[in-house]
Amino acid sequence: MQPKIDEIADGIYRLSTFVPDIAPPAGFAFNSFLVRGKQPLLFHTGLRKMFPLNRDAVARLMPIDKLRWIAFGHYEADECGAMNDWMAVAPNAQVAHGQTGVMVSLNDMADRAPRILGDGEIIDLGGGKRIRYIDTPHTPHGWDAGVMYEESTGTLLCGDLFTQLGDNPAVIHGGDIVGPAIQGEDLFQYSALSPGMGSAIRRLAPLKPKTLALMHGPSFQGDGAAALNALADYYDKRAGQRWAEIMQDRAA
Ligand SMILES: [Fe+2]
Ligand SMILES: [Fe+2]
Repeated sequence: MQPKIDEIADGIYRLSTFVPDIAPPAGFAFNSFLVRGKQPLLFHTGLRKMFPLNRDAVARLMPIDKLRWIAFGHYEADECGAMNDWMAVAPNAQVAHGQTGVMVSLNDMADRAPRILGDGEIIDLGGGKRIRYIDTPHTPHGWDAGVMYEESTGTLLCGDLFTQLGDNPAVIHGGDIVGPAIQGEDLFQYSALSPGMGSAIRRLAPLKPKTLALMHGPSFQGDGAAALNALADYYDKRAGQRWAEIMQDRAA
């Protein structure tokens, strides 16, 4: 099992590890993204037990001790399980995440003090790369959830949004990513279905991302705003249906 490495946007590399034993027969992939800059940033550390695989993959792209930032969508094993392993091999690496995640989990779980990113705050990575952090609480899950947007390439690092099964191509040009995301939701039921989910996703659409970089799925190049709005509409509907079911059960 070796991560596949692909450049999905200028200076942004997708490291993808496919695990056929999860959700067979389709299987399931875990993606991390390395954003090259003077201060390189890794979005998703990968599972702790996959650290040697991801370390060796990053080492093919850059000296691992030069990694500066470790970021992720929320506090969960596949997103950040290897953060302390990365900090052990990269002496200047620091975790950067939103206030909730830092206060609730990372101040305790990270071996070095994390940096708190406010909603909308930008880290200038140098080399033309600028990463903006955006809070998306409970979306798709995790109180601390957030996404990152690389401004120079228009790449939205979506975390678990649009999660789908399978060993997907690194990049797809157009096509449907909402249908496969609904299948993923039906199977895993991974979303919080909080009433604010649709609006948290819809709030990302004005970025008009050129690339939607999925943690579990391909990187989609096309009308990112339309895909985000369609996903938001779907979750508004699904959450509304769930609440209606609850009220019917209560009335019965
Ligand atoms: Fe997750
Ligand atoms: Fe994930």
